[in-house]
Amino acid sequence: MELFTKTLFLCLALALLMEHLREHHDAAVDDASLPDRCDGIGFDAITPDEQGTTFFFRGSHLWEGFHGPAQLSNGSFQELDDIGHVDAAFRMHNIEHRDDHDHIYFFLGDKVFSYYAHHLEEGYPKEIQQDFPGVPSHLDAAVECPKGECMTDSVLFFKGQDVHVYDIVTKTVKTKTWSHLPVCTSALRWLEHYYCFHGNNFTKFHPVSGEVSGVYPKDARSYFMKCPNYGHGGHYKAKVTSSQAPSTCVWTPGQVVEGGDQRGGCCLFLRDNIYLIKDDQVYIYKAAAHYTLIEGYPKTLKEELGIEGHVDAAFVCPDNHTVHIIIGGTIRAVDLSATPRAVTREMPLPFSDIDAALCSAEGVNVFKGATYYHYESPMTLAMSRIAPEPLNVTRAMMGCEE
Ligand SMILES: *[C@@H]1O[C@H](CO)[C@@H](O)[C@H](O)[C@H]1NC(C)=O
Ligand SMILES: *[C@@H]1O[C@H](CO)[C@@H](O)[C@H](O)[C@H]1NC(C)=O
Ligand SMILES: *[C@@H]1O[C@H](CO)[C@@H](O)[C@H](O)[C@H]1NC(C)=O
Ligand SMILES: *[C@@H]1O[C@H](CO)[C@@H](O)[C@H](O)[C@H]1NC(C)=O
Repeated sequence: MELFTKTLFLCLALALLMEHLREHHDAAVDDASLPDRCDGIGFDAITPDEQGTTFFFRGSHLWEGFHGPAQLSNGSFQELDDIGHVDAAFRMHNIEHRDDHDHIYFFLGDKVFSYYAHHLEEGYPKEIQQDFPGVPSHLDAAVECPKGECMTDSVLFFKGQDVHVYDIVTKTVKTKTWSHLPVCTSALRWLEHYYCFHGNNFTKFHPVSGEVSGVYPKDARSYFMKCPNYGHGGHYKAKVTSSQAPSTCVWTPGQVVEGGDQRGGCCLFLRDNIYLIKDDQVYIYKAAAHYTLIEGYPKTLKEELGIEGHVDAAFVCPDNHTVHIIIGGTIRAVDLSATPRAVTREMPLPFSDIDAALCSAEGVNVFKGATYYHYESPMTLAMSRIAPEPLNVTRAMMGCEE
């Protein structure tokens, strides 16, 4: 039952995201002189810049964001044509030191290059040893790991099967060997999750233990980019196993929601934004800006929506800016076009502990375990005093294939 519910939630989220992405198709890559990110070769390095745009590097080229054609790297990072390629890159997270915070560090051989706002900082390149004592040369990959996710503000440097955990405060290194992980050619932190990229595949890992939970590797072409015949076009497979129990509602950028826990969080797609409600926090990501977190977020539920409690489900209907939030046995409506936000209506429901809810042109479906209740509109849901006959959820109904 648990597994079924997880699969269901994944399917719901997938269906929602596919719907959303249909409006965000980009032109096909047709310049044969440029490398194609769908060729399965993978990347030398991946990092966001200070704006949150994710850059993928290979040789002298880069890709800006999760779709679109390759460009010469020196167009965005001018001095990079002297280097030719990079071994590794990461974006520094160091709010204590504003001079370093959000800088992009590139590594090549025994040199490090620091960029801010796409300009090489004065004094760079430097020897890696000068800036990162104890970190080896000829790295494979690097990724930042802020305090809270790692013990302290750190950077993970990968070389072969070793990971050198560099504490940016004490400037000390601890080396671990994660022989269960593939050798990462690049690494990325995305929405607080950590991904090791190797060839066309990627593996999600825990930044402290290195533990891999879930079914990996996965093909990056189905998740982090848009590739013909990979994971889109409204025809895809959703596979969830019982070992895959993600604790948050997480979607990977290009395409597909990777997992969702019915108790962990809710995703909403509204205009050009994705709202993620998790615990008492609301995160809003801007789709048009490569799903970057809008400045000032996360905010608390109270601040953003004027409500408190554990959100079981949330939905918006097409062409409407009222969000409906289900907490325990109540449903609240919040008008997102009004400032400050306030609950415009609060009604009891004839059930509680629901897993998810979805609104479409056909009405509202409220999911609980392997069953769902159907209502004509949010209004009929809010007015109902007796639960209607529960219906059986079918996978076909979610547009998912087993
Ligand atoms: C980037 O490099 C290419 C070839 O390596 C060169 O032709 C071009 O002028 C460079 N562009 C910039 C902006 O430096
Ligand atoms: C990618 O992963 C698949 C299994 O999911 C495996 O068969 C394939 O060999 C892997 N490819 C690379 C280049 O690691
Ligand atoms: C949006 O939904 C709310 C509540 O369901 C409803 O009262 C309102 O009329 C709707 N607005 C529009 C523009 O359809
Ligand atoms: C739902 O499935 C159960 C068995 O799994 C079955 O007994 C029941 O009749 C089904 N209900 C509907 C409405 O199809």
